[in-house]
Amino acid sequence: MAKDVIIACDFSSKEQTLAFLDRFTGRKPFVKIGMELFYAEGPEIVREIKKRGHRIFLDLKLHDIPNTVRKAMSVLSRLDVDMTNVHAAGTVDMMRAALEGLTREDGTRPLLIAVTQLTSTSEERMQRELLIGASINDTIAKYAENAKEAGLDGVVCSPLEAELVKERCGAEFMAVTPGIRFADAAADDQVRITTPARAREIGSDYIVVGRPVTAAADPVAAYERCCKEFLNE
Ligand code: C5P
Repeated sequence: MAKDVIIACDFSSKEQTLAFLDRFTGRKPFVKIGMELFYAEGPEIVREIKKRGHRIFLDLKLHDIPNTVRKAMSVLSRLDVDMTNVHAAGTVDMMRAALEGLTREDGTRPLLIAVTQLTSTSEERMQRELLIGASINDTIAKYAENAKEAGLDGVVCSPLEAELVKERCGAEFMAVTPGIRFADAAADDQVRITTPARAREIGSDYIVVGRPVTAAADPVAAYERCCKEFLNE
Protein backbone atom coordinates (compact mmCIF):
# COMPACT_ATOMS: atom_id res chain seq x y z
CA MET A 1 0.00 0.00 0.00
CA ALA A 2 1.19 3.51 -0.79
CA LYS A 3 2.61 5.36 2.20
CA ASP A 4 3.11 9.10 2.22
CA VAL A 5 3.41 12.27 4.23
CA ILE A 6 0.48 14.69 3.81
CA ILE A 7 1.02 18.36 4.70
CA ALA A 8 -2.03 20.02 6.32
CA CYS A 9 -2.28 23.37 4.51
CA ASP A 10 -4.16 25.11 7.29
CA PHE A 11 -3.97 28.57 5.72
CA SER A 12 -6.80 31.04 5.23
CA SER A 13 -5.96 32.38 1.78
CA LYS A 14 -4.88 31.30 -1.66
CA GLU A 15 -1.91 33.70 -1.60
CA GLN A 16 -0.52 32.25 1.63
CA THR A 17 -1.04 28.68 0.45
CA LEU A 18 0.55 29.11 -2.96
CA ALA A 19 3.49 31.08 -1.50
CA PHE A 20 4.03 28.15 0.89
CA LEU A 21 3.81 25.53 -1.87
CA ASP A 22 6.15 27.56 -4.12
CA ARG A 23 8.97 26.71 -1.71
CA PHE A 24 8.78 23.03 -2.70
CA THR A 25 10.83 23.00 -5.87
CA GLY A 26 11.70 19.30 -5.75
CA ARG A 27 9.23 16.63 -4.71
CA LYS A 28 5.61 17.88 -4.80
CA PRO A 29 4.05 17.06 -1.42
CA PHE A 30 0.64 15.44 -0.96
CA VAL A 31 -1.43 18.24 0.63
CA LYS A 32 -4.52 18.36 2.80
CA ILE A 33 -7.05 21.12 2.18
CA GLY A 34 -9.44 21.63 5.07
CA MET A 35 -12.61 23.59 5.71
CA GLU A 36 -10.89 26.93 6.37
CA LEU A 37 -9.16 27.16 3.01
CA PHE A 38 -11.98 25.51 1.04
CA TYR A 39 -14.64 27.81 2.50
CA ALA A 40 -12.42 30.86 1.95
CA GLU A 41 -11.39 30.14 -1.62
CA GLY A 42 -13.86 27.60 -2.98
CA PRO A 43 -13.24 24.77 -5.45
CA GLU A 44 -10.85 26.93 -7.50
CA ILE A 45 -8.08 26.49 -4.91
CA VAL A 46 -8.35 22.71 -5.36
CA ARG A 47 -8.03 23.03 -9.15
CA GLU A 48 -5.07 25.38 -8.82
CA ILE A 49 -3.12 23.12 -6.44
CA LYS A 50 -3.97 20.07 -8.54
CA LYS A 51 -2.72 21.88 -11.66
CA ARG A 52 0.60 22.39 -9.89
CA GLY A 53 1.00 18.64 -9.62
CA HIS A 54 0.12 17.97 -5.97
CA ARG A 55 -2.06 15.13 -4.78
CA ILE A 56 -4.90 16.40 -2.58
CA PHE A 57 -6.74 15.11 0.48
CA LEU A 58 -9.93 17.23 0.69
CA ASP A 59 -10.77 17.14 4.39
CA LEU A 60 -14.38 18.37 4.60
CA LYS A 61 -15.73 15.66 6.95
CA LEU A 62 -19.22 15.38 5.44
CA HIS A 63 -22.04 14.40 7.83
CA ASP A 64 -25.69 14.74 6.72
CA ILE A 65 -28.56 12.56 5.52
CA PRO A 66 -27.45 9.94 2.95
CA ASN A 67 -29.13 11.62 -0.03
CA THR A 68 -27.48 14.99 0.65
CA VAL A 69 -24.07 13.39 1.16
CA ARG A 70 -24.43 11.35 -2.05
CA LYS A 71 -25.16 14.48 -4.07
CA ALA A 72 -22.40 16.53 -2.42
CA MET A 73 -19.89 13.75 -3.07
CA SER A 74 -20.97 13.56 -6.67
CA VAL A 75 -20.07 17.26 -7.05
CA LEU A 76 -16.75 16.76 -5.25
CA SER A 77 -15.86 13.78 -7.46
CA ARG A 78 -15.53 16.21 -10.39
CA LEU A 79 -12.74 18.06 -8.57
CA ASP A 80 -10.37 15.17 -9.15
CA VAL A 81 -9.05 15.04 -5.57
CA ASP A 82 -7.15 11.95 -4.44
CA MET A 83 -8.75 11.44 -1.04
CA THR A 84 -11.73 12.82 0.88
CA ASN A 85 -13.73 11.97 4.00
CA VAL A 86 -16.98 11.71 5.96
CA HIS A 87 -17.91 11.26 9.63
CA ALA A 88 -18.49 7.60 10.46
CA ALA A 89 -21.15 8.83 12.92
CA GLY A 90 -23.38 9.41 9.87
CA THR A 91 -24.03 5.63 9.79
CA VAL A 92 -23.22 2.83 7.34
CA ASP A 93 -26.02 3.97 5.01
CA MET A 94 -24.58 7.48 4.82
CA MET A 95 -21.08 6.13 4.12
CA ARG A 96 -22.45 3.85 1.37
CA ALA A 97 -24.23 6.85 -0.17
CA ALA A 98 -21.00 8.86 -0.01
CA LEU A 99 -19.16 6.12 -1.84
CA GLU A 100 -21.86 5.91 -4.53
CA GLY A 101 -21.81 9.66 -5.05
CA LEU A 102 -18.04 9.75 -5.25
CA THR A 103 -17.77 7.00 -7.85
CA ARG A 104 -17.51 8.44 -11.36
CA GLU A 105 -19.23 7.01 -14.41
CA ASP A 106 -16.03 5.21 -15.46
CA GLY A 107 -15.86 3.49 -12.06
CA THR A 108 -12.89 5.51 -10.74
CA ARG A 109 -13.07 7.46 -7.51
CA PRO A 110 -10.88 9.18 -4.90
CA LEU A 111 -9.98 7.26 -1.74
CA LEU A 112 -12.74 7.66 0.86
CA ILE A 113 -12.00 7.49 4.55
CA ALA A 114 -14.07 8.08 7.69
CA VAL A 115 -13.42 10.12 10.81
CA THR A 116 -14.06 7.86 13.81
CA GLN A 117 -14.00 10.01 16.94
CA LEU A 118 -12.21 13.34 16.63
CA THR A 119 -8.98 13.37 18.58
CA SER A 120 -10.31 16.44 20.39
CA THR A 121 -13.15 14.36 21.91
CA SER A 122 -12.22 12.83 25.26
CA GLU A 123 -13.79 9.60 26.51
CA GLU A 124 -15.37 11.53 29.38
CA ARG A 125 -17.11 14.06 27.07
CA MET A 126 -18.17 11.35 24.63
CA GLN A 127 -19.90 9.50 27.45
CA ARG A 128 -21.32 12.53 29.28
CA GLU A 129 -22.37 14.72 26.35
CA LEU A 130 -22.98 12.24 23.53
CA LEU A 131 -24.34 9.52 25.84
CA ILE A 132 -22.11 6.90 24.21
CA GLY A 133 -21.56 4.42 27.03
CA ALA A 134 -18.78 2.37 25.42
CA SER A 135 -15.08 3.13 25.81
CA ILE A 136 -13.51 5.43 23.25
CA ASN A 137 -11.41 2.56 21.86
CA ASP A 138 -14.46 0.31 21.41
CA THR A 139 -16.26 3.20 19.70
CA ILE A 140 -13.35 3.84 17.34
CA ALA A 141 -13.06 0.12 16.53
CA LYS A 142 -16.81 -0.18 15.85
CA TYR A 143 -16.90 2.97 13.69
CA ALA A 144 -13.91 1.63 11.72
CA GLU A 145 -15.75 -1.70 11.21
CA ASN A 146 -18.81 0.23 10.01
CA ALA A 147 -16.65 2.16 7.54
CA LYS A 148 -15.22 -1.10 6.25
CA GLU A 149 -18.69 -2.62 5.94
CA ALA A 150 -19.76 0.41 3.87
CA GLY A 151 -16.84 -0.23 1.51
CA LEU A 152 -14.63 2.70 2.54
CA ASP A 153 -10.85 2.54 2.25
CA GLY A 154 -9.92 3.42 5.80
CA VAL A 155 -10.23 5.85 8.69
CA VAL A 156 -8.64 8.96 10.14
CA CYS A 157 -7.44 8.19 13.65
CA SER A 158 -4.72 8.99 16.14
CA PRO A 159 -1.52 7.05 15.41
CA LEU A 160 -2.01 5.40 18.78
CA GLU A 161 -5.27 3.89 17.49
CA ALA A 162 -3.86 2.67 14.15
CA GLU A 163 -2.87 -0.69 15.63
CA LEU A 164 -6.39 -1.31 16.95
CA VAL A 165 -7.94 -0.37 13.60
CA LYS A 166 -5.62 -2.74 11.72
CA GLU A 167 -6.32 -5.52 14.21
CA ARG A 168 -10.09 -5.19 13.73
CA CYS A 169 -10.28 -4.30 10.03
CA GLY A 170 -7.19 -5.89 8.50
CA ALA A 171 -3.79 -4.61 7.37
CA GLU A 172 -5.15 -3.33 4.04
CA PHE A 173 -7.63 -0.99 5.73
CA MET A 174 -5.95 2.42 5.75
CA ALA A 175 -5.03 4.39 8.85
CA VAL A 176 -4.51 8.08 8.11
CA THR A 177 -3.05 9.71 11.19
CA PRO A 178 -2.65 13.32 12.32
CA GLY A 179 -1.09 14.07 15.72
CA ILE A 180 2.51 13.87 14.51
CA ARG A 181 5.37 15.69 16.22
CA PHE A 182 9.16 15.45 16.00
CA ALA A 183 10.77 13.99 19.11
CA ASP A 184 12.37 17.35 19.97
CA ALA A 185 9.29 19.58 19.38
CA ALA A 186 6.30 21.04 21.27
CA ALA A 187 2.95 19.20 21.22
CA ASP A 188 0.88 22.40 20.64
CA ASP A 189 -2.79 21.50 21.30
CA GLN A 190 -2.43 17.86 20.23
CA VAL A 191 -2.68 15.30 23.00
CA ARG A 192 -2.29 11.83 21.52
CA ILE A 193 0.86 12.31 19.48
CA THR A 194 3.78 10.35 18.15
CA THR A 195 6.82 10.84 15.91
CA PRO A 196 6.88 10.05 12.16
CA ALA A 197 9.20 7.08 12.81
CA ARG A 198 6.93 5.64 15.49
CA ALA A 199 3.86 6.15 13.27
CA ARG A 200 5.57 3.99 10.64
CA GLU A 201 6.27 1.25 13.20
CA ILE A 202 2.66 1.31 14.44
CA GLY A 203 1.31 0.93 10.90
CA SER A 204 0.06 4.36 9.75
CA ASP A 205 -0.40 4.48 5.98
CA TYR A 206 -0.44 8.25 5.67
CA ILE A 207 0.64 10.76 8.30
CA VAL A 208 -0.93 14.23 8.28
CA VAL A 209 1.52 16.87 9.46
CA GLY A 210 0.58 20.52 9.93
CA ARG A 211 2.46 22.92 12.16
CA PRO A 212 5.71 20.91 12.44
CA VAL A 213 6.10 21.72 8.71
CA THR A 214 4.02 24.87 8.09
CA ALA A 215 5.42 26.75 11.11
CA ALA A 216 9.01 25.51 10.72
CA ALA A 217 11.79 28.00 9.97
CA ASP A 218 12.60 25.80 6.96
CA PRO A 219 9.38 23.99 5.90
CA VAL A 220 11.06 22.09 3.08
CA ALA A 221 13.72 20.70 5.43
CA ALA A 222 11.01 19.79 7.98
CA TYR A 223 9.01 18.01 5.27
CA GLU A 224 12.10 16.12 4.10
CA ARG A 225 12.76 15.09 7.69
CA CYS A 226 9.20 13.73 7.98
CA CYS A 227 9.63 11.75 4.76
CA LYS A 228 12.99 10.42 5.91
CA GLU A 229 11.62 9.26 9.27
CA PHE A 230 8.23 7.99 8.07
CA LEU A 231 9.18 6.46 4.74
CA ASN A 232 12.55 5.30 6.05
CA GLU A 233 14.23 6.75 2.95
O1 C5P B 1 -0.69 21.26 13.04
P1 C5P B 1 -1.06 19.82 13.25
O2 C5P B 1 0.05 18.86 12.84
O3 C5P B 1 -1.58 19.54 14.63
O4 C5P B 1 -2.26 19.59 12.22
C1 C5P B 1 -2.98 18.38 12.14
C2 C5P B 1 -4.03 18.48 11.09
O5 C5P B 1 -4.82 17.31 11.13
C3 C5P B 1 -5.00 19.65 11.26
O6 C5P B 1 -5.38 20.06 9.94
C4 C5P B 1 -6.16 19.05 12.00
O7 C5P B 1 -7.38 19.70 11.72
C5 C5P B 1 -6.18 17.63 11.41
N1 C5P B 1 -6.84 16.63 12.26
C6 C5P B 1 -6.41 16.34 13.55
N2 C5P B 1 -7.07 15.36 14.27
C7 C5P B 1 -8.12 14.72 13.75
C8 C5P B 1 -8.55 14.99 12.44
C9 C5P B 1 -7.88 15.98 11.72
O8 C5P B 1 -5.44 16.91 14.02
N3 C5P B 1 -8.70 13.77 14.44
